Amino acid sequence: MAPERQDRWMELSDVIVDFRADGSRRPVKVADASSALVDAPFSSSRRLLAQLPQSEGVFDDGGVDGVLLRSHLELQRLAEEVQHGHRVSRLVRPFLDLIDGPKRVVDVGCGLGYLVRYFASTGSLGDDVEIIGFDFNQGLLRAASRLAEIEDLDCKFVVGDAFALDTPATVYLSSGVIHHFRGPDLPDFFARQHAAGAAACFHFDVAPTWLTPLGAWVFHRARMREPLARHDGVRSALRAHSDTDLLDAIASGAPGWVPLIFDATGRRLAVLNVMRPAIGMNPELVEPYKQSLGPLSRRLS
Ligand SMILES: C[S@@+](CC[C@H](N)C(=O)[O-])C[C@H]1O[C@@H](n2cnc3c(N)ncnc32)[C@H](O)[C@@H]1O
Repeated sequence: MAPERQDRWMELSDVIVDFRADGSRRPVKVADASSALVDAPFSSSRRLLAQLPQSEGVFDDGGVDGVLLRSHLELQRLAEEVQHGHRVSRLVRPFLDLIDGPKRVVDVGCGLGYLVRYFASTGSLGDDVEIIGFDFNQGLLRAASRLAEIEDLDCKFVVGDAFALDTPATVYLSSGVIHHFRGPDLPDFFARQHAAGAAACFHFDVAPTWLTPLGAWVFHRARMREPLARHDGVRSALRAHSDTDLLDAIASGAPGWVPLIFDATGRRLAVLNVMRPAIGMNPELVEPYKQSLGPLSRRLS
């Protein structure tokens, strides 16, 4: 993401790298990244930035990749602990079961590919499903591919913009990504997936509640070791979109889809409702999906 994009509560991982849509990379000046942190003139964000690997005022690609890799390994540990792969597949599998023939699932911004590798190793999305992870970050995808190779998994990782696909996906999904899309970019994010011919999308992100600011701080302090992972974890929770913003963005960006939320804010105890998906779905598939989902469909709104 371009460091010149200014916004509140920017994450450091957004300002210390600058990828083009094809995955190639521009050097990032420390001063530019620092000035993108508009809301943090005296905060620890700038101190942290100054401690990241750099030389002659420019971030060092290899060193920064190492920090990002360690942060994503911590994210993966958390995902394993909360059985995030199971939580995602129990909602996506009943949808894929409704579609005949070969299917393609694309994880947008897959990072280290935890979800992609989980689906491939457990077969939890069913048969005849091609699973692809897309990310701008080549360093993370190299690590994801190496892990998949070690486990001999049938999945693919592609460097670049998730939307630059020649064959459209049946389902686009993501985890911890949609808060990166701000303002008009959010409806546009949904519009591009609908225009690409997908039958549905499932985008998981933090559900902001009254507990989020304190809860995210305590949680990341206790569970993360890498300073950037702690910092960005709290900020990503503060930047998370509300249910209403997500539903509005789907409705305006992809009017051909029915917008849905699973576990809407206030319907479950805040502490249990950390990551919930915003869902867009072709209208004729909504009722069959509810049937296929069974008792869990009561948590859709
Ligand atoms: C906070 S990380 C989440 C990683 C992973 N989904 C997880 O749950 O661990 C956000 C990722 O989205 C990627 N990203 C954002 N927009 C993208 C796009 N249009 N295409 C590919 N990758 C994207 C970033 O490079 C980054 O790795």
